[in-house]
This record gives sequence, structure tokens and C-alpha cells, in this order.
Amino acid sequence: MRRALKRAGLSPAPKDFVETPGIPPPPRTSLPGEPPGTSTPVDWAGFFGRVAPVEVEIGSGRGRFLTDEAAARPDTSFLGAEIELEYTRIGQTRAEKMGLTNVRFARLDGRAFVLDRVPAGSLAALHVFFPDPWPKKRHTKRRLFSPEFVRGAALSLVPGGLLRVATDNLPYFEAIREVLDAEPAFEKVPGSEAGWSSGTDYERKYEKEGRPMGRGIWRRRPEG
Ligand SMILES: C[S@@+](CC[C@H](N)C(=O)[O-])C[C@H]1O[C@@H](n2cnc3c(N)ncnc32)[C@H](O)[C@@H]1O
Repeated sequence: MRRALKRAGLSPAPKDFVETPGIPPPPRTSLPGEPPGTSTPVDWAGFFGRVAPVEVEIGSGRGRFLTDEAAARPDTSFLGAEIELEYTRIGQTRAEKMGLTNVRFARLDGRAFVLDRVPAGSLAALHVFFPDPWPKKRHTKRRLFSPEFVRGAALSLVPGGLLRVATDNLPYFEAIREVLDAEPAFEKVPGSEAGWSSGTDYERKYEKEGRPMGRGIWRRRPEG
């Protein structure tokens, strides 16, 4: 099949992304330039071509937040981990149009990427804005925020590193807050539930509509 596709001038899907009926494909955790299925810890300096603080956004959508941040903070490197290929392309095009070299977008399963590939203590910040809320009870296990993810997120951060979260789904925000407050490696930044905005596409839309939103920032404890 792969050979037939090649003969026809088509590029086959990377091996680890081929879908088999009834078997869910493995999560996408390889960065551009890495062979599919790479499982070693990410070499941030190699990926960005420089040594600099690294921040990751999970579910970066069309890339507005990260491109704005990258333009404002050229000394930091940013990665958008976005599961939808089309959005990663939009983000990357936006970055190129803005002439930014300190931000990249990759098609990744953000949860698996953080848990399996991000080296412990390597991120200055992790951003998650308007994660899919999966409001139906039978779907809640698909939500990003679980005790396992939150533990992995805390360990991925440098001591003092920040996890920033916003959502318009208030029941989900309560669940997020509960699981973050229960993680001993995190402490809530006092007053962080108000006074800031991520400026993502979703946040701008909901702000215009006057929708109530949950926001918060948690810090990895210096000793955590
Ligand atoms: C509701 S949208 C919010 C987009 C953006 N953060 C914003 O605020 O405008 C959620 C985004 O998360 C992405 N997403 C969902 N599950 C993901 C996962 N496991 N890893 C990475 N991105 C994911 C979706 O494709 C979508 O772009």
C-alpha cells in the first residue's frame, strides 16, 4: 500500500499514524523533523536552534496567542501543540508573515506530548486556553485535565514555572480548579482569576459576548 502510494506520487501517512479500523491511532507526539514514533525526550535547543526559555500552548488553534507572545518576547521560544493539522498550518503561516523565528506549530496530541516527550523541569510556562469541554457526562474522561495530566504538567515546568488556564465552561473550570488544587507540586497564584486575558480567538469572541469565564494561574512550587 505504501509503495503503491509512492508510485502514484502520493506521500503515505507516517507509519505510526496509519489508521486501522477498530484500533485507535497512537497519539501524535513527534515534532517536525523527527521520525514518526520518536519517544526520546525533546531536545529543545536542537528543535529551536538556540538555548532559551520554552513555553508550550496546548490547543493553540489558529495561533493568535502564541504569535502575539512571540512578537512581544523574542528571547523566549514558543511551541503550539495543536491536534488539527489545518490549524497548525494557519498558525505557522501567521508566524512566517510576521517574520517570527521563535515560534513553531506542530500537529501533536498535547496531552501525550507533555506526558511522554517533554523533559522534566524544561518549560517556563504551559498555556491551555479553552480546552474542549466535553460537557456530556459519558465524555468527561476525554477531557485534558485529569490528575495524571496535571501531575505531568507540573513536572514539565521549571520550579516557579506557570500553568495558565481559561475556559468559558464554568463546570469544567471548577473541575480543573479542583484537580490543580489537589496537586501538591502546584500552588495557585493569588488573584490570578481576574485581571488578565489570553487574547485567543475564543477569548476575544466570548469577551465581546460578555460571557462569564473561569481563569487561573498555577505555579510549580519552587520545592515541588
Ligand atoms: C475550543 S478550541 C480553543 C482554541 C484556542 N486555544 C483559543 O482559545 O482560541 C480547542 C483547541 O484544542 C485543540 N485540541 C483538542 N484536543 C487537543 C489535543 N489533545 N492536543 C492538542 N490540541 C487539541 C482543538 O483542535 C482546538 O484547536
